[in-house]
Amino acid sequence: MADIITVQDLFKLYQPDIRAVDGVSFGVAQGEIFGFLGPNGAGKSTVIKVLTTLLKKTSGEVRIKGFDVEREAREIRRIIGYASQEVGVDDDLSGRENIVLQCSYFHIPRDEARKRASDLLDTVGLADAGDRKAGTYSGGMRRRLDLATALVSDPEVLFLDEPTTGLDPQSRRAIWDHIRDLNRKGTTIFLTTQYMEEADQLAHRLCIIDNGKIVAEGEPGELKGKIGADTIHLAVKDGGPDLIQRAMDIISGIPGVNDVHSCIAGDIGCTEDIVVYGAAGGNLVPRIVRSLDAANIGIGDLELSEPSLDDVFIKYTGKQLRTDLQKAPPKLGFRSRRRR
Ligand SMILES: Nc1ncnc2c1ncn2[C@@H]1O[C@H](COP(=O)(O)OP(=O)(O)O)[C@@H](O)[C@H]1O
Ligand SMILES: [Mg+2]
Repeated sequence: MADIITVQDLFKLYQPDIRAVDGVSFGVAQGEIFGFLGPNGAGKSTVIKVLTTLLKKTSGEVRIKGFDVEREAREIRRIIGYASQEVGVDDDLSGRENIVLQCSYFHIPRDEARKRASDLLDTVGLADAGDRKAGTYSGGMRRRLDLATALVSDPEVLFLDEPTTGLDPQSRRAIWDHIRDLNRKGTTIFLTTQYMEEADQLAHRLCIIDNGKIVAEGEPGELKGKIGADTIHLAVKDGGPDLIQRAMDIISGIPGVNDVHSCIAGDIGCTEDIVVYGAAGGNLVPRIVRSLDAANIGIGDLELSEPSLDDVFIKYTGKQLRTDLQKAPPKLGFRSRRRR
């Protein structure tokens, strides 16, 4: 299907020296859920603000349904919806009043607005709470209300900037269900996230963005497939950096190993973790165990797994991304060794 969003060589500089978006190109097909996955400060919100006509780009070409994002901003605003990273609900108004107010910005007549508010409260599961002040809502309810206000114009393309950041797992899942439902009904969705699991669960295709650049693009399964059939995580027993380096040197010499990474937690007391990417993990494990054993290097822990998007992210950026709500972003050192 034709791309409904096209972005070519997009640059956005804040002041002359802050390259928030550093030459980004991608296309989003009509009807898909497209994800932008990246850590804080990667440039996600900047991209979304340019695409939603709220921020002037420095250079590049951005079109939505063929309309130019700057010359034809009015046409674009008619066909898009946007829920920003900061929830934009008015706490002193009820959920229903928030939606009716949003309708007034789109010049929707009052009767129609009331009907739409009821429908949308239903859609996002807030029918029972619709007449309570938004100030009394939980974080998940506020996000759902925000989603409802982004839907008042019945947009063809919906932009969601980190729709579940800060929410508990149950509320996240509720939002995911709403996003999937909307998409099933035909809405194209562009969403940003810091959560691997969210990108994996929702996005048909995704870009990994880091420091204003796209470092990988594809379907989640395709990205995972690219980094090898299997992934082995192992911890070296009582290992300081030197021992870990030795272990890595040994492992990278083992036939069938494609790539060896080491993520060393900066905090004292954290376990060191070597990540091995291999073509045939099932056979690799005994070889690794034997080789390390022969070198008198003890293995504290070993786990064989299918690659996750987390592994994809580490491979392309050299960093770990936060994978759940509770963990603070880990401080990580990083070394990489590639085998030819
Ligand atoms: N208004 C601004 N002025 C200057 N720098 C900004 C501004 N907004 C964002 N930045 C910087 O641009 C980079 C990208 O920010 P942002 O797009 O908000 O990233 P993300 O949404 O992925 O966290 C960051 O380094 C951020 O500090
Ligand atoms: Mg952001």
